[in-house]
Amino acid sequence: MNGWTVAQSELDATRQHHHETIFTIGNGYLATRGAFEEGYPQDRRTTFLHGVFDAAPFVVTELANAPDWLALEILLNGERFALSRGTVISFARELDLRNGVLTRRVEWESPRGDRATILVERFCSLAAPHLVCMRASITAARASEIELRASINGNPLSEGAQGEKLAHWEFLAQGLSRAASRDERDGDVFLHTRTFQSRIELGAAMRVIATHGKETAREFWDARNAPTFVLRANASAGETVVVEKYVSYFTSRDVDAARVVEAALQELNAVTNWNDAFRANAAAWQVEWARTDVVIEGDEEAQLAIRFNLFQMLIAAPRLDDRVNIGAKTLSGFGYRGHAFWDTEIFMLPLFIYTAPHIAKNLLNYRYRLLNAARAKAKANGFEGAQFPWESADTGEEVTPTWIPSYLDRSQLIRIWTGDIEIHISADIAYAAHQYWVATGDDEWLMDKGAELILDTAKFWAARAEWNEKEKRYEYNDVIGPDEYHDHVNNNYYTNRLAQWNLQTALDVLEWLKSHAPTKSQQLVEQLDLSPARLEKWRDVIAKIYLPALPNGLLLQFQDYLERQAVDLAALEPRTISVQALLGIEGANETQVLKQPDVLMLMYLLQNEFSRDQVRLNYDFYTPRTDHTYGSSLGPSIQTIMACAVGKPDDAYEHFMRALRADLYDVRGNADDGIHAASAGGTWQAIAFGFGGLRITREGWTIEPRLPQHWKRLAFRFFYHGEQQVVDIGGE
Ligand code: BGC
Repeated sequence: MNGWTVAQSELDATRQHHHETIFTIGNGYLATRGAFEEGYPQDRRTTFLHGVFDAAPFVVTELANAPDWLALEILLNGERFALSRGTVISFARELDLRNGVLTRRVEWESPRGDRATILVERFCSLAAPHLVCMRASITAARASEIELRASINGNPLSEGAQGEKLAHWEFLAQGLSRAASRDERDGDVFLHTRTFQSRIELGAAMRVIATHGKETAREFWDARNAPTFVLRANASAGETVVVEKYVSYFTSRDVDAARVVEAALQELNAVTNWNDAFRANAAAWQVEWARTDVVIEGDEEAQLAIRFNLFQMLIAAPRLDDRVNIGAKTLSGFGYRGHAFWDTEIFMLPLFIYTAPHIAKNLLNYRYRLLNAARAKAKANGFEGAQFPWESADTGEEVTPTWIPSYLDRSQLIRIWTGDIEIHISADIAYAAHQYWVATGDDEWLMDKGAELILDTAKFWAARAEWNEKEKRYEYNDVIGPDEYHDHVNNNYYTNRLAQWNLQTALDVLEWLKSHAPTKSQQLVEQLDLSPARLEKWRDVIAKIYLPALPNGLLLQFQDYLERQAVDLAALEPRTISVQALLGIEGANETQVLKQPDVLMLMYLLQNEFSRDQVRLNYDFYTPRTDHTYGSSLGPSIQTIMACAVGKPDDAYEHFMRALRADLYDVRGNADDGIHAASAGGTWQAIAFGFGGLRITREGWTIEPRLPQHWKRLAFRFFYHGEQQVVDIGGE
């Protein structure tokens, strides 16, 4: 084990979709699941491009599975290569995390008894993000005719939660383009297509080159919506035929719609050969890893797994586009249809804020750009200010499905309430904006954008607060906190406290602006109508917001939490499903079992405000009440940090491994749908803020290492105010 390679040594059709997810490759512009080039029954072959959404039933809009660049058929003496036919003598797949190259090596015997070794390598160039590259090397055991059919398939389908298939693309044009300066035989092909509803145009272009083996024939098949190059070669026994396939994508999000095809063709002209394309990609990856890598010595599994999780974040991170966000399943599967949640701000953003602030800024700018949609949502609900959608896609409108068909009985619809009442996301976004500022010292961004985000969300919180005349306090009633096992609750501690924080931070930021950027402050005061009376109301809400707690310092999940039924979680073992699946939505709602530990999460976010004793009290109370194994995948990384904070390294390690394994080992049984992005992002926080004990303030940073006993070394880097800092615990 070299700490960088994720390997699979056996073909296991029962784990097909799981493996497709973990062998996803990408470059922050697009990503492609680990489906086989030649296809396999039931495969979910996807390439998702950031921001390319199209309307879909129930889920409002979804990432449109883009024309497929993988399509490559291999025929050995006329027999079509497929892992579902003939005999697979050996199978090995490797993902090299260092450079994002996926390699598959198969020894195959055809139904008629011909043998060949087939090696396919592919990567999505990090150096040239519109470009994807593939190389197939075929070695036949005896003299054979080898035929390759390389296409762009313009008919990819998206798959709904219950297996229903949906098309998103209408064909516009295709053809052959002969680059004047090149050999006639090597012309490139293009496909021009457009999403049905959002009308995003896409140009894809393909070049196919045989570099080894004697090409005996080459044809262009002008099959509608699947332009194809066919290459034939006669190979002698043991001779290797090598074919390279390059595909480029441009959409009307990138360039003018009239230019998408031209831009895609141009991109191919920059390709010289495989080695150059490979080297440029590897060099770009080196830069990423120099910022992001985490070194763990003394634990091979954790070392590889942390890199795998970071890799998943890096291939999803928009480096060049600030109009997109990272979906809860990155770009690696159909789950959550590419929609973004609070997962970004609370779980993924810290990784980027500290290791790649330019990426964090893009993600925050996405929210800033969509402020008007958030204002519209607040207004539609009768409030002032900005209320961000629980699920967000391209326009910033709420895209949480309101109703979805039940898994158990398709004729029954289930009401999804999160889009209506899971309101904490507006404070989460403000929190992330502030955290970005504290860590980077990017005053300009705060003045230009961050302050407006923080002030307008505060405005929402003041409007949404309800005055309880009897108790003489403000309340937020009928909400869902992060813990989604309990809906329609009153005064969820996390929501109330973070709303209060949002209001206070808005006042502080306004003060800061007054002294550092008086003109901007004046402009915002006018634009957002921040009158003295309004600010007075904010202070009143801050002072009188209800924060349910017991006198001993136990913070209450929500107002009536202790009246719910206590459940001994151990008594439910063994189980392989969540408590909610076990007891039903209503059943779980009536218990004290938590999907994720809100109170501990809040204590993590506002860690300077609680004493160690109070953290311990709450940790000990909520830990046995949380469904760690099958509840939310977002929980374990935060639980790791809190276990570190209360000095329980063994518990911390257990939660950490649960987060690290979420996708690699499919511990929740739903990795088929895509990578658990929040879990992946959270693992970096567990490293830095948990085991590293890193604390950051406007004044500087400190560490307080608490490594698992068997770890010999932990090293990572982070940026503080523009300068890279190195933490190396136990190293030389
Ligand atoms: C979790 C939410 C999360 C969403 C998307 C839900 O199951 O409870 O906290 O935002 O998944 O990952």
